[in-house]
Amino acid sequence: MTVAIFGAAGQLGRDLVPRMAALDEDVIALTRTDGDFTQPLSIRTFLATQRPRWVINCAAYNFVDRAETEPEAAFAVNAVAVQVLAEACRAMGTKLVHFSTDYVFGRDESRQTPYREDDPPGPVNVYGQSKWRGEQAVLAASVGHLVIRTCGLYGVWGSGGKGRNFVETMLRLAAAGQPLRVVNDQRCSPSYTVDVAETTVELLRRDAEGVFHVTNTGDCTWYEFAVEIFRQAGLEPELTPITSRDYGATARRPAYSVLSTQKLTSIGLPSPRPWPKALAAYLKERGMKSTLT
Ligand SMILES: NC(=O)c1ccc[n+]([C@@H]2O[C@H](COP(=O)([O-])OP(=O)(O)OC[C@H]3O[C@@H](n4cnc5c(N)ncnc54)[C@H](OP(=O)(O)O)[C@@H]3O)[C@@H](O)[C@H]2O)c1
Repeated sequence: MTVAIFGAAGQLGRDLVPRMAALDEDVIALTRTDGDFTQPLSIRTFLATQRPRWVINCAAYNFVDRAETEPEAAFAVNAVAVQVLAEACRAMGTKLVHFSTDYVFGRDESRQTPYREDDPPGPVNVYGQSKWRGEQAVLAASVGHLVIRTCGLYGVWGSGGKGRNFVETMLRLAAAGQPLRVVNDQRCSPSYTVDVAETTVELLRRDAEGVFHVTNTGDCTWYEFAVEIFRQAGLEPELTPITSRDYGATARRPAYSVLSTQKLTSIGLPSPRPWPKALAAYLKERGMKSTLT
């Protein structure tokens, strides 16, 4: 039997592909060249030919700021193509595993406790709206499909679509000797793609259905994350906390989008390790000594 992975060249896809060996499945790793989500009919044709046992979708339009000015592009990849994929999978009796984001939340400005899977979404930007629409399409097509919401991903392959992840950006700017200003009023749970990939494999092993949150545990602001990156990397750049307003990004971001991982525990899976430990593992994997033991 085979598992087809779309977005296999992205940072999560790259860590997921080798871990499917744990399930004893053959993997078809698909990139944009094999199936372009802006041409969803080609995806349907591909699936009908290959008839995989599982389909995992790591492909996404991830340009959060750019989505504000090109919403059609975001919705085409994150919602329209996902609906085609979900319906094609249902028609073949294939389970779809789809990734989504903490950015489906954020409209509740008073929120200070982690979001559960059954909390009503309320995105504050176009990217979040497109991802929420994608989630809805997946779950409407089949209750057997699985949606995994994650957050603030970083993996050693960098971010395929965006060029670099947050950790790499911080290290690159620090190495260039530039003073850094990092937002300190957006709280979430940055997550290591290795940990998300390993938990995904366990969810597949248990044939989990519906929505699950998979992030490293604990939370921080992006400024607090940067402080810990530099502490572990043994660097001391000039680092200043700023507000989102001062930063002036095009897209609004949630002030709080921490996801609860308790549902994992309810099916006997451990929550992924705390984010500082995951960061240490990442720095070790990419070949930079971490001071965290
Ligand atoms: N990155 C984050 O911080 C974050 C946070 C929360 C949730 N997520 C979700 O987690 C999942 C994986 O994210 P990631 O960080 O691994 O993303 P990524 O590194 O940007 O990878 C996304 C992949 O999607 C592919 N893709 C983009 N447009 C496509 C199209 N039209 N047709 C086919 N493939 C296309 C990209 O291909 P190319 O390499 O050819 O561009 C890339 O390989 C996504 O669902 C994302 O929404 C990410």
